Amino acid sequence: MIKLSWRNRGFWDKMKEVSSRGVSHRAAKVSDMKIPDTSSSSLFTPLALGQAPGKIILFGEHAVVYGRPAIAAPVQQVRARAEIWPAEACTVEAADLHRRIPVADASPDDPLARIVRLTCEALARPLPPWRIRIASEIPVASGLGSGAAISAAIVRAMLAAFDAALDDATVSALVYEVEKIHHGSPSGVDNTVVVYERPVWFMRGKPPQPFAVARPIHLLIADTGVSSPTRIAVGDVNKAWEQDPTRYETLFDAVGSVAQRARSAIETGDVAALGPLMDENQRLLAAMGVSSPELEALIRAARAAGAAGAKLSGGGRGGNMIALVDDEHVGLVSRALTAAGAVSVIATTIPPAIVV
Ligand code: PMV
Repeated sequence: MIKLSWRNRGFWDKMKEVSSRGVSHRAAKVSDMKIPDTSSSSLFTPLALGQAPGKIILFGEHAVVYGRPAIAAPVQQVRARAEIWPAEACTVEAADLHRRIPVADASPDDPLARIVRLTCEALARPLPPWRIRIASEIPVASGLGSGAAISAAIVRAMLAAFDAALDDATVSALVYEVEKIHHGSPSGVDNTVVVYERPVWFMRGKPPQPFAVARPIHLLIADTGVSSPTRIAVGDVNKAWEQDPTRYETLFDAVGSVAQRARSAIETGDVAALGPLMDENQRLLAAMGVSSPELEALIRAARAAGAAGAKLSGGGRGGNMIALVDDEHVGLVSRALTAAGAVSVIATTIPPAIVV
């Protein structure tokens, strides 16, 4: 897992303060933040900051690649962040990954260089002389949308440093271009959720639909610790679909029907109905061949400890699972997940939301 390793955490704290005063929390130009300019602090002050959350898929992964609906939501507890510093040339640095990429010389399929170039192209600007430092709390290759969040954080930081604006649909489209490098033929659900930062009803090729969340939904997200690149799971499902299209189309239709019923339950506040729907979605994912012994062990442990339902989330084969919990069971289920081998457990809540 990549861990945050910022030397200047104070600036991120400052950013949170700015956000609570009503300025966008997704990006900030540091000169707007009224940090006292002591003689030494300017040396340690980035030009701008950007960030984006992780995401979970509640219902519909894999089937969404084949045109069925999916429901996904941001996970604000884990975030990717980008800082922009003045420099001689444009580079991206991922200290946690021990990577330093000179953007002008990078290969066209380097995802970090690509998002920088795409942002410059969208704004009709030349490559700026910036050092773009990234870090992320979102585990890589684990179904939490780490690649999309890093791209979105870079775009947001660059927009703030350029003093420019792009709407969410455009930012999402830029991030989608980079998702193609990570995933081959992504549905677009990851970029949509991390950029819009709200629960969405998503169908490939259509604008995302925000929808109402009538009652809070409490979830635990547990990591198997098994890294599983989405590209491989998606590729395997594709091969299996080519060999037996009738069987897979039937499975995808069944997932689409689960997602449809889940949306109604979320909109009407029938949280109790979501547990069995998660279990049903998990059975269908296992039938597609994307579950794993580690995921099944965590799902069994969560259900045995009182979770109302549980399923893998994302590409599967490893990565994360999610469990629906109520207040009474959150501690029990969390401990059971750890005892069953989870390397991390995150508690998150999808808050009520209205659609205007
Ligand atoms: O593993 P993640 O977080 O990238 O989620 C992938 C979701 C899939 O439906 C399996 C693929 C896609 O492009 O939607």
